[in-house]
Amino acid sequence: MSSESGTAGKQRLQGKVVIITGGASGIGESVARLFADHGARMVVIVDIQDDLGNKVAESIGVHRCTFVHCDVSDETQVKTTVESTVQKFGQLDVMFSNAGILSNSDQTVLDLDFSAFDRLFAINVRGMALCVKHAARAMVEGRVRGSIVCTGSVAASHGGRRRTDYVMSKHAVLGLVRSASLQLGAYAIRVNCVSPNALATPLTCRSLGMEVEEVQKHYESLAHLKGVTLEPRHVANVVLFLACDESEFITGVDLGVDGGYAHT
Ligand SMILES: NC(=O)c1ccc[n+]([C@@H]2O[C@H](COP(=O)([O-])OP(=O)(O)OC[C@H]3O[C@@H](n4cnc5c(N)ncnc54)[C@H](O)[C@@H]3O)[C@@H](O)[C@H]2O)c1
Repeated sequence: MSSESGTAGKQRLQGKVVIITGGASGIGESVARLFADHGARMVVIVDIQDDLGNKVAESIGVHRCTFVHCDVSDETQVKTTVESTVQKFGQLDVMFSNAGILSNSDQTVLDLDFSAFDRLFAINVRGMALCVKHAARAMVEGRVRGSIVCTGSVAASHGGRRRTDYVMSKHAVLGLVRSASLQLGAYAIRVNCVSPNALATPLTCRSLGMEVEEVQKHYESLAHLKGVTLEPRHVANVVLFLACDESEFITGVDLGVDGGYAHT
């Protein structure tokens, strides 16, 4: 997909400096491309997949997108990434804190593997909190009316038959977003959550051991809303809305991209 396509008349992030964690793949990559299309001055892709991250940044264009290797579970790396972004590009307007993983095993409560649990929590919870913390600090210091968007999931507000660690971690993301939005409102900083239903990305294809089309069919068969297949671009559109000024009075919200799943 070309990031050059269809940019006229839709510059909803004109001049903004944004960080996208997990931007090398899946939802994060789609958001990086959309943000660049919408006039972001600089899209900083943060990930641990260096080759992929660099390729995505190059395909978007090095004048408006750059890749930074950063493990979001490491506070020093997150702090340095945020500080160097502000140093190089003047400020931080938007943080899309999105990096997340699944455990390899089922992780039912009866057979929870706590080394997998700890690894997942280090990224999905600690990493999310580190990104919110350091983005918010940079915004407060720079007096920026910033927007922070975290990736939750339908698993943030529903129990699961398996993946206990993942479900717990996404519930924690919601707690983070709700608390941070209360605490940062005084600084005019907004914090929201986007919660997709299951969709085909490298994360889920790997986990199910299936190709994209098979995964899409599988999730389509489970979806309430028929006639549309959930894709990363649907999530990206919602993230764009939460990131830009069109949502300037919205904070503390968990916005589902779930085809009605939240109401079941
Ligand atoms: N795919 C789904 O069905 C689905 C549904 C709901 C929510 N989500 C959430 O969406 C987010 C993105 O997932 P995706 O489906 O696009 O998966 P993905 O695997 O395609 O992308 C996730 C990216 O995060 C990066 N990442 C992993 N650990 C990292 C770390 N420690 N530091 C920095 N980057 C790291 C990965 O390298 C990868 O590029 C995750 O938070 C996931 O939980 C996904």
